[in-house]
Formats: sequence, C-alpha cells, structure tokens
Amino acid sequence: MISKRIVGYNSWIFRRRVIHDPEIASDIIRDIRTAQPNHIMVTGDLVNIALHGEFLNGENWLRKLGRPDLVSFVPGNHDAYVPIPWDKGMGRLGDYMTGDLTVPGAITTPEIAMPFPYVRQRRNIALIGVSTAIPTRPGRATGILGPAQMDALANTLKNLRTKGFYRILMIHHPPLPGLARQRKALTDAQGLKDILDDEGCDLVVHGHNHTAMHNILTSRHGPVHILGVPAATSNGARNTEPAAWNEYHIRRASGRWQCTVNTRCWDVEKSSFVTQTGYSLD
Ligand SMILES: [Fe+2]
Repeated sequence: MISKRIVGYNSWIFRRRVIHDPEIASDIIRDIRTAQPNHIMVTGDLVNIALHGEFLNGENWLRKLGRPDLVSFVPGNHDAYVPIPWDKGMGRLGDYMTGDLTVPGAITTPEIAMPFPYVRQRRNIALIGVSTAIPTRPGRATGILGPAQMDALANTLKNLRTKGFYRILMIHHPPLPGLARQRKALTDAQGLKDILDDEGCDLVVHGHNHTAMHNILTSRHGPVHILGVPAATSNGARNTEPAAWNEYHIRRASGRWQCTVNTRCWDVEKSSFVTQTGYSLD
C-alpha cells in the first residue's frame, strides 16, 4: 500500500502538478457560487493520494463551495487510495454524504463508514449517491459497486420512479461498460447497466475520466443521460481538457421533465470561466 502512495506522489509531482492549478480550484468555486444553484453535486476525486493534509484541504474546498445540505459528494478511487483512519480522511466529509431518508439495504465498507446508497430529496428531484471507491493496487484505478449497493440502488430507483421523482444518480466512475479503460473501469459496470436498463434514471453524473462526456442509454423507461466533466482544477496543460462544470436546469412542464445543460469551461487565454455550450437533454 505504501508503494501505491509513492507512485501517486511521483505522479503528482512530475505530471499532475503542472496540470492541476489551485487558482482554478478557487475560481471554479467563485463561478459556481455566482450562478446561485439550488444544489451542487461533486463526484470526486477530492484528493490525490489520500494524505491527511489533503483531506484537510479537500474539506476546506468543499466547505467554501457550500453547506453540506446544499452540496452532495460521492467519493472517488483516489479518496480511498490507501486505508486511512475514517476520522482523519473521508470522515471529515461525512456530512456531505448524509442522506435524508433511510435506504433499505444501504451498506458501509471498511473505507467508507457512511451508508451507501444515500438519497437526498429536493422538492421533486431525488439525488442518489453511490460509492465506487475502493483501494486498488498500483497502476489501477478501478471501482466497484458490489451486489449489496446494486440491489439497494435498483429498489431505490424503482421506488423513486413510481413516486414521480426526477432521479439523478451520482457516481464517480463512468457507469457503463467501455466508457473507461479497463484498468480504470467500474468492474461491475455491466450489472449497473442492467439496472439502469430495467429501472431507468433521468440523469447520471460522473467524474474520473477528466474529460467532457455525454452518453445516452435507452432504457425501458426512456433515455438515461450520462454526463461527465473534466477535472475542476485542470489548466489544460499537456493535452488535458481545461476545468469545466455543468449547470443543469431541470423543470417539469406539460407533464414532462425537461433539462437543459450549460457548460462553463476554463478559458486558458482569458484565465476565467466562460459559457461553452448550452443544449437540451430532451
Ligand atoms: Fe478517479
């Protein structure tokens, strides 16, 4: 496990440090808060190599972004990079992963002592958070949901669908087979795809790939829009995509859900965030 941490640290020093910019991390907070969203979803990774000091910085960043009831967080593979005592690591972010109702079958793991999935209901929108964060061996960045979370998620999606909620699934790893390289993939993505096929979901948001993505799965209950964004701190160096975030406008009109997306992207020339695209998910 120690060697994994060293690999990550080298990677940060020699490669990632030139890409990830603390100034952009601050600017993205300003830009998001200026938009005055009703809710903010953060899909990890929040830290790089899971050192105690990184969790302090990550917690500071998250608390500047917004109060725990206004910001929902799901952990990524780096957030569980190596086993670290709960109260020194992910436990510092626990109030950002707290659901507001009991989800039958939700589980804890040795790394994540909060029950997952969790559900937050905001008027007629339901935010469902799952954890794919597991420590992995060096050179791998895989994630797993596991059968218990899968079962709980399937029941939750069904329950919320029958109650008429707009359902948003928050997950760190891209949720379908083939959306990430094998060594970085969700290992039980096929099982999750089957659940999304059967139960539907209005929107899935993910991180991990550090690139803008929009995939559509045609489920038994209509299209499932699956969107990912670049890293929140990326300056675009070395052929990476500059930082970006998506703003979702969700409303119900004429008996149908409508969602439009505005992407705010870091403009390297202007050193500020600008609106890049706006489109409808209909
Ligand atoms: Fe990741």
